[in-house]
Amino acid sequence: MDYKKIIESDLNEILKDKAEDLTCQAARYSLLSGGKRLRPMMMYMTYDMFSGDQDPVFDDVRYYAATLEMIHTYSLIHDDLPCMDNDDLRRGNPTCHKKFGEGIATLAGDLLLNTAMERLMAIALDKPCYLFASYRMAKLAGINGMIGGQSIDITSENKQIPPDDLYELQEKKTGALIECAVLTPYYLLNKTDRSSFEDDENISLLRQFAAHVGLAFQIKDDILDVTSDPKTLGKSCGKDERDNKSTFVTLLGMDNANARLGSEIDKAHGILDILKGKGYNTTDYSDLVDYLKIRGN
Ligand code: IPE
Ligand code: IPE
Ligand code: MG
Ligand code: MG
Ligand code: MG
Repeated sequence: MDYKKIIESDLNEILKDKAEDLTCQAARYSLLSGGKRLRPMMMYMTYDMFSGDQDPVFDDVRYYAATLEMIHTYSLIHDDLPCMDNDDLRRGNPTCHKKFGEGIATLAGDLLLNTAMERLMAIALDKPCYLFASYRMAKLAGINGMIGGQSIDITSENKQIPPDDLYELQEKKTGALIECAVLTPYYLLNKTDRSSFEDDENISLLRQFAAHVGLAFQIKDDILDVTSDPKTLGKSCGKDERDNKSTFVTLLGMDNANARLGSEIDKAHGILDILKGKGYNTTDYSDLVDYLKIRGN
């Protein structure tokens, strides 16, 4: 199945009925203007790994995949604002505030987040067995996850932070939503609440896998900011140095950052080997992990 096509078509339905509103137009502009769709793609990969054919949960995975991409897109709109990273280019297009102004861009981010939260609650109202999955997504987007990481990122500008702080920054700002992508379909397929996950070995393996992928992903993001060009990357380059950001390149140097990227990729493969040994098909995830090293944007 062409998951990328499904993702694009599901996202295209979001906020469509309110398209006369400028904030909706701005939200849809950012949501539909490209992007690798890595997080929703990962959701389908976990789903494929653990589901049987024609699993009825598939439609719900679609729903959560689109919801996560909404949260991710909101985080990018706000990340680009002049009061944060002040970026003009995103996904090969002018950033939301460049196109619509700061006020509407701020609201567009708020709207995507709020609509995502409405969706998380709406599906849990309908299917209470999904309450845990919804709760985890909301939590991983918050102060213990993405917002918490962004907060450390902003307060770490213009200073040298200890390595542990940089790892915490990355785990939260990037790792949290990636963990959410990897684990949500597993929660949906197992229809279980928190207590029944305590000693689930697959959860522990998926979490470790997501942590290595998240770290590899952010190391590469930091490397590309130095080595790429705006046309290839779809966003401006050299901005981490401009803003005196704490990144894996500034912490480790370019050579060691590349080496660490390689070792995180090896570790991610190591976890996949264990899952493969348990009888799961890990081919798509294995290809994704290799792509993390060579990706150009
Ligand atoms: C960029 O994420 C922000 C980070 C977490 C580093 P992506 O590189 O996945 O951005 P898109 O969605 O493809 O534009
Ligand atoms: C932002 O990290 C991660 C988010 C949670 C949005 P960056 O600031 O490094 O992302 P880019 O490089 O602008 O995409
Ligand atoms: Mg940033
Ligand atoms: Mg940024
Ligand atoms: Mg970056």
